[in-house]
Amino acid sequence: MHGPFHELSLRDGPIAMARRRTMKVRAVASGSEKLVIRPARRADRDAIFAMSKEIWGGTDYLHLVWDGWLDDPDGGLLTVTLDGETVGVSKVTLLAPGEVWLEGLRLHPGLHGRGLTRQINRYSFQIAMKHNPKSIRYSTGAGNAASRHLGEARGFWLIARSRWMWGKARKRGPLRGRPAQTRELNAVYKFITNSNCYKATGGLYGLGWKFPELTRNRVQDLITKERVLRYPKLGRLTAVAIYDIGLIDGDVCLGFIDGPDAQVAVLARDVLRIAGRLGDDDASAMLPEGRHADLAFKACFNQAEPTPAVVYELGPRGLTDDGESFEEAMWRTLYSIEEETADALADLLIARTSGRFAGQNVRDFVTRHLLPDTRKEIYGKLEQSTRKLRTYQLRNIARAVFEHFMIEYSMVRDFVRFGRTGISFIYRGKKIAAMRFNSRSFNLTLGPGAGPCFPRGFNPVVDSVRLDESCFDPGSRMYESVTLRLSKEEHKRSARAAIDMLMGCALNNSA
Ligand SMILES: CC(C)(COP(=O)(O)OP(=O)(O)OC[C@H]1O[C@@H](n2cnc3c(N)ncnc32)[C@H](O)[C@@H]1OP(=O)(O)O)[C@@H](O)C(=O)NCCC(=O)NCCS
Repeated sequence: MHGPFHELSLRDGPIAMARRRTMKVRAVASGSEKLVIRPARRADRDAIFAMSKEIWGGTDYLHLVWDGWLDDPDGGLLTVTLDGETVGVSKVTLLAPGEVWLEGLRLHPGLHGRGLTRQINRYSFQIAMKHNPKSIRYSTGAGNAASRHLGEARGFWLIARSRWMWGKARKRGPLRGRPAQTRELNAVYKFITNSNCYKATGGLYGLGWKFPELTRNRVQDLITKERVLRYPKLGRLTAVAIYDIGLIDGDVCLGFIDGPDAQVAVLARDVLRIAGRLGDDDASAMLPEGRHADLAFKACFNQAEPTPAVVYELGPRGLTDDGESFEEAMWRTLYSIEEETADALADLLIARTSGRFAGQNVRDFVTRHLLPDTRKEIYGKLEQSTRKLRTYQLRNIARAVFEHFMIEYSMVRDFVRFGRTGISFIYRGKKIAAMRFNSRSFNLTLGPGAGPCFPRGFNPVVDSVRLDESCFDPGSRMYESVTLRLSKEEHKRSARAAIDMLMGCALNNSA
């Protein structure tokens, strides 16, 4: 089984590849055959289109993008020939400085299964390295086993799962949201980067089958083009949708959406109204699997059977300076490959059983019992526990505090207990912290159990602070326990710092 962690070494990674000499034309002799990979020429067109017609039952879109790709000032369109005959293509695209996107990989079906793509990819990587990339990404259909395997075997990480959907354009009716304005950039960008949609796509948005980074510059540009919608029209924004014009067929594509359920539906329908105003018959959406895709599908993007997509990235995030810690990257990746992990485990067990168990039983058992900490389960339980909190914003704050325990201190599995109105965190068999939810705020109680860790006069930015007098340690003049009341976004930072104080003590005392 190959997974994203397989071969995650720099031996074959960007640094090593950068050191290799780049070549204008790569020729590989295989037996008596000669495989050549070279920059595409205008004259390749007919042969490429003929080859492309053989792919995906004739639905390949290469003919729609070929001219644009050929004229790309950054180049990157490659033609593959075998003994002089055109048999394949590959495209390396620069989405922004350092942001490389791989696409358009095609090989004549008659040549599949011979390992030729590895050679094509090697050359594509050399082209990619010329751009001094911070990341190299590509997307593919979740069911495209060959394409997925090619990336995974090279150390690409699966960073997002999305769903490609279609909706019928709406010819009538006013927009219920409105395009955001440039002066709202700060609020919009903050909303986006704090959103679950942003997290679920690893900071990218779906533009058809391309996934550019949602950088501040890009959001600003999209606002200027009136492609960022906000809801409500007046007052504080509570929902945002981003659409863009697809690079393949010029269609509207909804690539980011978040907010309360009903408002997500409103903005999804607005995007279909915009498509209608542009004279289109339909529009697509590429949204993260789960809540976001479900809501858009239910609201209006349900014209055709959706296609699941996956996004891969090379440039391990934890090892770059984009702010995500290695642990965060590991957690996120582990969650996103939960099905693969379960499958691999099932394969292993099935191979070891003597036939007493039917394969399917083993697989079912693994899926049901052995991965209790999957994202769905954890977040499902979190949602139930935080149900008392009235607003989406409050639940988001609670979630951020919970995630701090989970991500920074691995408080999962036996270390966390979910109740109907609260969550307890267990350390060395003892409850060390708890979250208790009311309708408009929640209490975070830290300690006792880790030793004295909060000073007299401890005054973090929260609604209220209650140091527990019964847990005062006269020797150190510190308190073992404190309860913070939280209700606002800006309280998250103090809560995290207080958790760090508690866990710092706990770890020191147990060292
Ligand atoms: C993607 C494509 C270029 C790969 O071509 P290829 O060189 O024939 O690929 P292979 O059949 O040799 O498979 C590549 C790898 O995937 C593995 N693979 C293939 N099918 C697989 C499957 N169903 N499950 C697991 N692994 C699979 C192969 O074993 C091989 O791995 P290896 O090199 O470690 O042995 C080719 O299938 C193609 O043109 N497909 C249509 C267009 C397309 O899907 N492009 C990619 C869009 S992102």
